[in-house]
Amino acid sequence: MTHTVAVIKGDGIGNEVIPAAIDVLDALEVEFEYEYGEAGDAVKAETGEALPEETYELAANADATLFGAAGETAADVILPLRDAVDSFVNIRPAKAYPGIEAVRPETDLVFLRENTEGVYSGHEDDLSDDLSTLTRVVTTSGSEKLAEFACEYVEASDDHDGFSVVHKANVMRKTDGRFRDAVLTVAEEHGVETDEVLMDAFATRVCLDPEQFDVIVCPNLAGDVLSDLAAGLVGGLGLLPSANIGDDNALFEPVHGTAPDIAGEGIANPTATILSAVLMLEHLGYSEQADRLETAVETVLAEGPRTGDLGGTADTEEMTAAIIEQL
Ligand code: NAI
Ligand code: MG
Repeated sequence: MTHTVAVIKGDGIGNEVIPAAIDVLDALEVEFEYEYGEAGDAVKAETGEALPEETYELAANADATLFGAAGETAADVILPLRDAVDSFVNIRPAKAYPGIEAVRPETDLVFLRENTEGVYSGHEDDLSDDLSTLTRVVTTSGSEKLAEFACEYVEASDDHDGFSVVHKANVMRKTDGRFRDAVLTVAEEHGVETDEVLMDAFATRVCLDPEQFDVIVCPNLAGDVLSDLAAGLVGGLGLLPSANIGDDNALFEPVHGTAPDIAGEGIANPTATILSAVLMLEHLGYSEQADRLETAVETVLAEGPRTGDLGGTADTEEMTAAIIEQL
């Protein structure tokens, strides 16, 4: 069966890493039908809209979307796109690969981040010249849905026994209290092992000893910040993929942004986007191809050629060609 994949390069290095991922998918000979859409700063400058209606519809109607990055307009693009695919969880694996100089080479974490609520639900107001406010949204139903997913995720895997719930319910008693209670109740129903860690303490503990953690279930902002912290532990933002999963649709994107400091030079690390394609292959049922591609990426990370952010001298094309060669 052919799957339709919406492809949105966006701005900056999105225009470099997405074509790299498509080249790699082409080499795998998977039968994807690609439909290209525009979003981001450049299309906003042209049309006044960062996310044109047709791009939203493209993502909403595809089997999956591969997205690069958007610049200043990131929030106007990625938040509605996550909505277009009805995503309730953002999966962010942060794994240190052999051969990469990582602060903590033993790091192997998976963040399951709530993806629509918390402080990212868009309820911000300017109440006076001096005062702005933000409403934090947490629902029992949203938290339970994330928890159901987390339980099924660890149950389906031989690598994971349970998860840590990371929150700040000692201060945000009502919102994170609701989140915490809902997640723990669902986990108990499933008989899935859990522990609880306050998010500030988690930040220290994961730096000192990442091996004490495995799967982390957390609210939206915490997941955003702590997974970037984990990117630092494993060797940089150029390595981290992510999957935004909905009931019938999904969107895959590198964790990084448009990297304006190197955009246009052809030297961006394609790994995060290619590993996002691995997650997309798994999600669409191409597990054999996903495994082959991940192995090829691992081999190139270990043996080179590598891009500059990983201490190498290769450009995007050379690193991509090496991955294709491994395939
Ligand atoms: P960034 O992730 O674009 O860059 C941070 C640093 O990491 C830079 O030094 C960059 O060169 C490096 N880097 C990131 N990805 C890399 C790669 N693949 N290869 C080599 N080096 C890489 O984050 P920053 O600088 O905070 O944001 C830049 C722009 O991107 C902003 O306009 C921001 O709004 C946007 N952004 C968009 C996101 C999205 O579309 N999902 C996510 C994060 C930021
Ligand atoms: Mg982020």
